[in-house]
Amino acid sequence: MQTDPSPRREIGVFDSGVGGFTVLHELREQLPTARLRYLADTAYAPYGNRSPDEIRARSMAISEHLIAQGAELIIIACNTATAHAIEALRARWPTLPFVGTEPGIKPAVAATRNGRIGLLATPATAASARLRALIERHANGREVVVQGCPGIVDHIEAGDLDSAELRSLVARHCEPLRAAGVDTALLGCTHYPLIEPLWQAALGPDVKLLRIETAVARRAVDLWTPASDSPALHIETSGDPAALRTWIERVLGWREPDVRSWPAAL
Ligand code: DGL
Repeated sequence: MQTDPSPRREIGVFDSGVGGFTVLHELREQLPTARLRYLADTAYAPYGNRSPDEIRARSMAISEHLIAQGAELIIIACNTATAHAIEALRARWPTLPFVGTEPGIKPAVAATRNGRIGLLATPATAASARLRALIERHANGREVVVQGCPGIVDHIEAGDLDSAELRSLVARHCEPLRAAGVDTALLGCTHYPLIEPLWQAALGPDVKLLRIETAVARRAVDLWTPASDSPALHIETSGDPAALRTWIERVLGWREPDVRSWPAAL
């Protein structure tokens, strides 16, 4: 592993791939002077189909790298990694703050009028004990319909945000939420806001969609003491840097992003 000879204070951000850019965008809005490093673990995406052990091992290796580069705060811009790894990360680095990304059950409970909430997430998040506990703690008697959504992240990683195939997959995953008559739905994966219009179209205009990135960035603001450093953004990937560069230019509209390679193997 390559280590910067003189690491500087940074905020490290990671996701299995491009989903965490939805969180990164908010972080840049709310902490415009921070030095940020974003790691996309593209070679191992999607995490949602992986075992808890694999997700934990990847999260550990990535955090070790981010810390070696100077991270003094780590944002887990991934619901799946938060569900399966945040406790292990905090146990291993007890003095380093980790901010997780988790579906906002409390805001959904406040928003619902009919008491029925939908939650769209990756299969691994949907199956996690941490999500079950979160719902038990905060649902307050409301019904929460949890739907694991295999396949969605693969489309988004490939740059497909609008194909007929993706639309029908989205519609299929939304069917149980429609059948339950939810009036509020949580996007429980950081990739999902990138196709928000598709979820809205499948669920209908009366269903309120809730996202979490703004709240995650607000938590980072609480924990971060801004320095006089000049802002910086380093983007790294365990996959193909050229492919990620193209994705960023095409989907996010950033020009000539600097994307470096980070060796994937554990
Ligand atoms: N974006 C991630 C999440 O919030 C992971 C998606 C995946 O890799 O399956 O869960």
